Amino acid sequence: MCGILGYIGARNGTPIVHEGLKALSYRGYDSWGIAVQDGASIVIQKGVGDITKTPVIQQHSTKVIGHTRWATHGCVTKENAHPHTNKEKTICTVHNGIIENYAELKTELEQKGYTFASQTDTEVIPHLIDFYIKQGQNFEQAFTTMLGRIEGSYAILCAHDKTPGLMFARKGSPLVLGLGKNEHFISSDIPSFLQHTQTIVHLEDGDYGKISDKIEIYNNGKQITRQPTTAPWDIEIAKKGAYPHFMIKEINEQPLTIRKALNQPAELIKQTALLLQSASTVYLVGCGTSYNACATATYQFSKSGRQTIPILASEFIQHTNFIDNKTAIIAVSQSGETADVLDAVKLAKQKGATIIAIVNVPSSTLARTADVVIPMNSGPELSVISTKTCTSQLAILYTLAFALRAKNTETIAEAADASLHLLRQHSQTMPELAKKMVDAKNIFCIGRNAMSQVAREAALKIKEVSYLHAEGMPAGELKHGSIALIEEGMPVIVFADEETRALTISNAMEVKARGAYVIGVDSKPNPAYDFHIQIPDINGLMPLLAIIPIQLLSYYLAVQRGCDPDKPRNLAKSVTVR
Ligand code: M6R
Repeated sequence: MCGILGYIGARNGTPIVHEGLKALSYRGYDSWGIAVQDGASIVIQKGVGDITKTPVIQQHSTKVIGHTRWATHGCVTKENAHPHTNKEKTICTVHNGIIENYAELKTELEQKGYTFASQTDTEVIPHLIDFYIKQGQNFEQAFTTMLGRIEGSYAILCAHDKTPGLMFARKGSPLVLGLGKNEHFISSDIPSFLQHTQTIVHLEDGDYGKISDKIEIYNNGKQITRQPTTAPWDIEIAKKGAYPHFMIKEINEQPLTIRKALNQPAELIKQTALLLQSASTVYLVGCGTSYNACATATYQFSKSGRQTIPILASEFIQHTNFIDNKTAIIAVSQSGETADVLDAVKLAKQKGATIIAIVNVPSSTLARTADVVIPMNSGPELSVISTKTCTSQLAILYTLAFALRAKNTETIAEAADASLHLLRQHSQTMPELAKKMVDAKNIFCIGRNAMSQVAREAALKIKEVSYLHAEGMPAGELKHGSIALIEEGMPVIVFADEETRALTISNAMEVKARGAYVIGVDSKPNPAYDFHIQIPDINGLMPLLAIIPIQLLSYYLAVQRGCDPDKPRNLAKSVTVR
């Protein structure tokens, strides 16, 4: 959560950082701030709300840092917005992460006479640097001493009014350098500077250093070199194009992204399948949508004779006693930076398990920690709402499940083609359905087997983007309690496929008898359905396709309710807190 960006170069960096922060605002959009070196002093501008809605800042500067915030310590106020400074405003800092020992550092600094202007953990950084400078250290030394005092996770940029260049440090939060012509960028994520350069250097945990006209990187006190690579994405993919929002753009990319997800080296899939076959236990681990993809895929693995255990990364700890060097973990994450996933992976690694990562960001911590990496190849997903990466994750998990029984992936490729027709068909019908549901108080999503997990994902999509209350559950569970909530006109979205139709329709009839408005997501029509969302019947792959119309429905519900589909309230794209 939170995005940071720094610029050093020959051009005016203020509009560059302002624009770049807009591209980072998917990481947090509670408040924003920019610090520019203006002559001998540093000038700071901050605001509450989303930076995309603020006019360009005027100051001309060749040294600029900026921040877009997802609040953790301290409410959403201008005071808590970054950058944070020392009292004299000679040192300023932007930070992504959490300084875990900030409370004791704050007490120590207060005892030394420092006063704090915010409630953030970050503010200890400029005060500590200030303290060490006043003890006689120069800015670079004081920055390094400060790093030795802080605990937790961080990506930090720091500027000093009298020292050229910017200091940086990374531990547990992403940080990447962009190398341009006569200019350098340093950021939480590549899209923030992609229009200026595609030459990047990924920083590793423990890296710190300085960017000025040259770049110095240190790790463990020694100067090191990190090789530049080319960014995996070009700028066009990080733009909305003709679409009003990233969410609808990304939903519509799925015919292509499912195909790209299938485009894996045959040897990689074969070796991974062998690994899964020989493992004593296989856990599928993820959070949110990524977890829902895991849970959906377990049914396909079962058909291949491989039992897999889907587990929410934040709940993984309870399995500690069952992990050893014969365990395989498939960790699924779009960002590869989700703290809960990284914690689970770290724990499993300590116990000797093999980690297979299905991940979209190739340079992410997860990708760099795993023993085997299967890239999702979806391109950047910039809406906070996961859509195209959900179907990519499913396509890869299905590919692995198919590989276990030597089944080729042609049917999955067929599903990718079918998704194009599905999108065309339901881009017309979903705005209409959204109109009928726009004021619903409660929505249920139900299904059986894999379709019950699609129902969970459908409910997550609806609630996170439209703020309508939706609940996803196995259809068989309704009668054990939740059916009490059914009342006249309540929408119930029913997911059914060939295997589950008969029983699911009985459940649909039960809610219909109690006044529910039944929406069937099914390849076949049925008298139980008041509204039928037709999906193609591609043998065993309906779960992969069934979520797509509901992604559209969620998008249109959000738009009709006046919600921003790319930046839902309280959320951030990568959840790097616990
Ligand atoms: O980057 P990850 O796939 O690890 O993220 C996991 C969840 O935070 C994410 O899927 C979240 O639930 C989204 N809001 C879903 O749209």
